[in-house]
Order: sequence, then C-alpha cells, then structure tokens
Amino acid sequence: MALIPQETIDDVLARTDIVSVISQYVTLKRAGTNHKGLCPFHEENTPSFNVHNARGIYKCFGCGAGGNVLQFLMNLEGWSFPETVRHMAGRVGVEIPEEDPEEAAEQRKRRQARELYRNVMNTARDYYEEQLWGEAGGHARTYLEQRGIGQETARVFRMGYAPGGWQNLLDALAVKGINAALVERAGMAVSRQSSGSYDRFRERVMFPVIDIWGHTLAFGGRVFIEGDEAPKYINSSETRFYTKGRQLFGLHAAKKGIQREEAALLVEGNFDVIALHAFGVDNAVAPMGTAFTEAQARLLKRYTRHVVIAFDGDSAGEEATARCLESCEIAGLKASVVRFEKGDDPDTFVRREGAQALKAMAAEAEALVAWSINRVLPISKGGMSAPIEERMGALEQAAAILDKVQDKIAWNHYAEELERRLEIDPKLFRRYLKRPEKRKDLRQEVKQAQSVKPVELSKVEFKLLTLLLDQPSWLVAFVREELSNLLESAELAEFLGHAAVYVEGKTEQEFSLAALTSRASPQLSQVVTSAADAAAAGREYEDLTEYDPENAARMYTDTMRELKYQWADRSIKPLEAELGQLDLQRDRDRYIEVYNQLKQLTAFRAGQSS
Ligand code: UTP
Ligand code: MN
Repeated sequence: MALIPQETIDDVLARTDIVSVISQYVTLKRAGTNHKGLCPFHEENTPSFNVHNARGIYKCFGCGAGGNVLQFLMNLEGWSFPETVRHMAGRVGVEIPEEDPEEAAEQRKRRQARELYRNVMNTARDYYEEQLWGEAGGHARTYLEQRGIGQETARVFRMGYAPGGWQNLLDALAVKGINAALVERAGMAVSRQSSGSYDRFRERVMFPVIDIWGHTLAFGGRVFIEGDEAPKYINSSETRFYTKGRQLFGLHAAKKGIQREEAALLVEGNFDVIALHAFGVDNAVAPMGTAFTEAQARLLKRYTRHVVIAFDGDSAGEEATARCLESCEIAGLKASVVRFEKGDDPDTFVRREGAQALKAMAAEAEALVAWSINRVLPISKGGMSAPIEERMGALEQAAAILDKVQDKIAWNHYAEELERRLEIDPKLFRRYLKRPEKRKDLRQEVKQAQSVKPVELSKVEFKLLTLLLDQPSWLVAFVREELSNLLESAELAEFLGHAAVYVEGKTEQEFSLAALTSRASPQLSQVVTSAADAAAAGREYEDLTEYDPENAARMYTDTMRELKYQWADRSIKPLEAELGQLDLQRDRDRYIEVYNQLKQLTAFRAGQSS
C-alpha cells in the first residue's frame, strides 16, 4: 500500500471535528473554550481529559495521553496509522490517492457499494418507522404498549413495523429509486424461484441494528400476533457490510450510559435491552442470539473495562454466561455475573422489582471466573470433602476454566483457591494445572504498550518548543538559521525541521496545530502536545503557566541565551577532559587547538550568562 501523502492527512485533520469524534467514546462537557470528560485511557473519577476543538488536540492531565484525533483513534481502537487515516478520510469525504490504479478502483467500488447498502437500510428503517406510527401500525403499537415500551423509547431504538403482505417494502423502496436487486442483495428481500422477489419481513415488529456511528446495518423482526406460528425472530442476512458477531444490539443508545455507569450490562434479548432502557437502565446491550464474540467484547471495551452479564434465568442462560469467559478474557474485559430465578429475564425482573433492585444486583455481581469455578466445584457440606473421583472431575473442569484466564496474578489467585478447596495433594495438583508458558502478565503488558518511551526534553528545550509552536514565524527563522544545532535532543531538531516545512508560507487560517503536531514522532508526540497545550494555556489562563504570550519576545531572547549557554556548557566538558589527557610537548598541535576552542567556548558561555 502506498504511503498516504501528508497533504491528505492534513486535509483529513482539517475537516474533522475532534469533539464530535471523541464524543462517540467519551461523554464531554463544555468547559470554557474546551471540552472536558473522563479519560478513556486511565481510570479516574474526576475529569482531567481535555479536548480543544479549535486546536484539534486532546490532552489528559491525569495520565499524560495526548495528541490529535488520529492519535486518539489509534490509541483507543488500536488501529494502525493508515487504517485510522483511511477510516477518517471515508467519514469526512477525503479521497486517498492510491498509487496503484487497480487498488484505487477497488476502493472506489467498495465505497460506492457501501453507500448503496446504507441507503437501502436507512430508507427501509424510515419506512418501517413510518408504518409503526402511521395508520397501519395500530396493533403493533398496542403490543409495544403492553410490553411497557413507550413512544420515546421506541424512537430511540428506531423501532418499526413491517406490515403483512409480500411487496410493501419492495414497493416503497422502488418509489425511492431502489431496485429489487439491491434490496435482495441487502438481505431485505428474498428472490422467488420463478421470478421476482418478496419482502423478507412481514407482519413483524422491527429492530434495526445500528452501529456506533448511527448507520443502520441490519434488522431483526419479531412476530407479535397471538398464535403466529412463524419463527419468533428472523434477521436480515449477513452481508459484506454487516457481520452479526461484530455488532451489539443497542450499543448506539447505550454507549453514553455505559460510560457513565463505567459498566455495560450484557443481556440476551433485544427486547431486554429496550425494556431496560424504558425503565431507566440505559447501559444494556445484546449479542443478538450469537455467543458473545471476541469482536463484540473488543467493541464494548472501547467504552468500558467492565461488563455485567445478566442473561436469562434458565439453564440456557447459565450455559451462555459460562461461554462468555473466553471472549472477555481475550479482550481484557472484567466480567461479572448476575443470575435471575428460573422464570426471569432482565425484562420480567425489572418490571416486577424495579431498576434499583437490578442495579443493586449488578453492583454485587460475582466475578465471572469465580462464578464459573463455583459452578463446577462440588459443594462439600459441613467440612466434609467430596470423594476424590468427584474432586478430580471438578479439577478437570476448573482447569479448563483457568486455562482461559489471561492474567498471571489472577491465575495464581484462582489456582491457590482451587488447591485449598479441592484438598488435592499439592504436587499432584500443580502437575495437573501446569501453567501454560505463554500466559502473560497483563499489567506488565499494559505498561509496555504505554511505553513507546516518550522523549523528555530539558526545561529550556521545552520552553523553546512552546514558544516556537505559538510563534510559527520564529520557528521558520530558527530552522533557517540552523539554530537546531544548539539542541540537545536530536528528535526535537528533526521535528522542528519538519514543522518549519509545514509552517512556511501558510497563513494563519491555513495553519493548524493538529497538523503540526502530527509531524512529531511517536516518541515526541506527547511532549509536543504538552508544549502546544502550554502555549494555548498561556493564552487562555494567563497566570497558570510559565508561558506568557505578552512577553513572548523577551522570553524568546532569554530562552535562546540559555540554550546557547547550555550548548557551550555541554561542548566544554569533553574538551576539558581531552585537554587533561594531552601533553603539551607530545601533542602540541591538538593541545593548542583544543585550548583555543575552550577559550572561545568559555568566552561565548560567559557572554550568555545574565
Ligand atoms: P429471546 O427469544 O430471548 O428474545 O432471544 P427476546 O428479544 O428476549 O424477546 P422476548 O422478550 O422473548 O419477546 C434472544 C435473542 O436471540 C435472537 C434475537 O436477537 C433475540 O433478541 N434470536 C432469538 C434470533 O435471532 N432468532 C430467534 O428465533 C430467537
Ligand atoms: Mn428473552
């Protein structure tokens, strides 16, 4: 794949509204000219995560994370740089020039196909919604009312009604210029063996599957008329733009609640999600009849590190709960479990007991690993152990559970607990539970991931960077005069070089700090963002930082003087050491050379102090 040209990246950044992108992940509140929220990169209770719209950057004063919108998405989604740029380019309508014309054509075709698909799905959604609230939808509305779902909630989930009959959707879409072949390809119509096609969804309450960006990707439809023999739910088919196991029903409506509660509630049914929402529990999502996949776990993890699994009270619900372990472990989601009585599901429970009772249960929920282990351990009553056969059987099952646990420390904790509770000879036990070598220490990993070893700058070089970011014309002059030679940090010198090229010839309107900071290497990007922040802070809250734009010129003079002083100082030391080793008789020429250099440098340094 060809490199993405810097101008394209700049174009993407210029057209992207950083606040609206970050709002998809973080609840932001306006604070003066900025937006503030809880940092998604570390756990915190008071917001120290700032987004500066005009400057196009974010910064967390708690953990130091910072950068432009592309860096935000890379860090949060774990996407590569090109992936991120391509994603955003698609959203803001910037073409990425492809060197390979075949690939370019391929991309364009795919984009067009996706546009067509979205158009089918959004138009269908609007149609079904109109039907629900229109004349035809009377009995469907009655059904929703009976199930405690008011108009407001139904609207949030864009619920709809597919009328009985074979051609309703096809006809409605044809009027909008969408032909039957497209409707079929989107999985919304079924082709007849003879010829033509018919609506897939007939006489059903419709549940659109909406992604986090608000696009309708698919539909589920539920029968609701007493005595209807058809399958309870049918779903539109998977397409190349929709994979069931990669979406969660209700996430678009729940993401704010999930962030606020710092936990997601995972339920089985679409109806549970909606009923809970109607009762004020707005952090529920459902995996739409599939096992909870790794992709779904990762999707949730964008919003929270904690999921509470609240499946139906029957034994199928219990089995399904146990099967969530692997996905949660792989994604690094902390999972806990709420179990209901046999006949209950979240919908019936909350209707009878209320939202508070459910929240209380969620708050007390047991960890999924502990719950899974308890489920397979024999209950020994009155201190009497179960027979050895039974204990070995339990060990086998528990070992399979432990095998999925990713974190070393958690693994040890549960292994010790097992050893205690099963009362099996420790040697035998440990041989059985041989810890797989590949198991990783998650905490260690997180630390490593965070350490792209950010460059730290000396105080004076940080001050210089702050000044130069705030005064682009000085930046250009600084680089042109080759003053970068004075710098201790080679990374900074390199960055200033790139930055000057970007800045030169740009008017103030064209100039963007986000584009500027995007030229920093990953190691330098944190400190560049901090400096950009210090510069802006100097403008916004004057007395809070050392940097004062009113006195920038004087500061610049002082900073340059200090920079020169330190450069001379750094240069003097090795020369002094060398001179100490030289012999005036034997190394006469070199001695004199070094001596003269030292004399000049010392004089130069003296000229810089005061
Ligand atoms: P449920 O049967 O529990 O549905 O299936 P529900 O949404 O809770 O509905 P109510 O409360 O009984 O009315 C759980 C989920 O499994 C998928 C649907 O996504 C459903 O929400 N499912 C179920 C299907 O895809 N097909 C089916 O035939 C049944
Ligand atoms: Mn259900």
